[in-house]
Amino acid sequence: MDSFADNLLIWYDRHARTLPWRISPADGKLGVLPDPYHVWLSEVMLQQTTVATVKAYFEKFVARWPSVMDLAAAETDDVMKEWAGLGYYSRARNLKACADIIAAEHGGRFPQTQAELLKLPGIGDYTSAAIAAIAFGERASVVDGNIERVATRQREIETPLPDAKKDCRAFMGEVTPADRPGDFVQAMMDLGATICTPRNPSCVLCPVRYGCGAAKSGRQVEFPVKAPK
Ligand code: ADE
Repeated sequence: MDSFADNLLIWYDRHARTLPWRISPADGKLGVLPDPYHVWLSEVMLQQTTVATVKAYFEKFVARWPSVMDLAAAETDDVMKEWAGLGYYSRARNLKACADIIAAEHGGRFPQTQAELLKLPGIGDYTSAAIAAIAFGERASVVDGNIERVATRQREIETPLPDAKKDCRAFMGEVTPADRPGDFVQAMMDLGATICTPRNPSCVLCPVRYGCGAAKSGRQVEFPVKAPK
């Protein structure tokens, strides 16, 4: 008990953001994994778009196409129209191509490992790891911008980005628990978005402040270190 993951998960169970693609711990459904279709759709939308904007688009998509089979049966034009406003339209084309492959070659079921997910269009290192962890409970090492900030501050990683990514992945490899890896990575994201913010982080509210190198040295805003331009 009292490991980094324990402290973070206790906090997450109380303070997780309620987001439409999550099963919220407040539902009392601990241990239930969310729908892979919802996780995939949200992660693709979140690749270049903020959580605040994605929420409404996500809800419209799942209302119109409740399953990946429905999305595969949709007209590409309709999908592009529903995507309008989110930008980076190659994401929508890949989304449709991915749905078609899952319908035609996988019987409508998402592959369950990061390695298999990586073979699908529009799914790279980050998205495959996120889906594997969140939808399937794989201990995949997920690193996004929020997680980079938390990790580099915890360990005072002096290497500038993007090279620091490797150290962040190593950090996640060390601290990600075998139990609830998907909740754990989403807890890291929520901590980075709400407490371990770029400027003025709220360290007094942070569940992992005692192990944090940057909080101890007062150097929070120096991390992550950026490469000189
Ligand atoms: N950003 C990318 N994926 C996310 C998720 N599952 N929850 C919150 N923010 C995210």
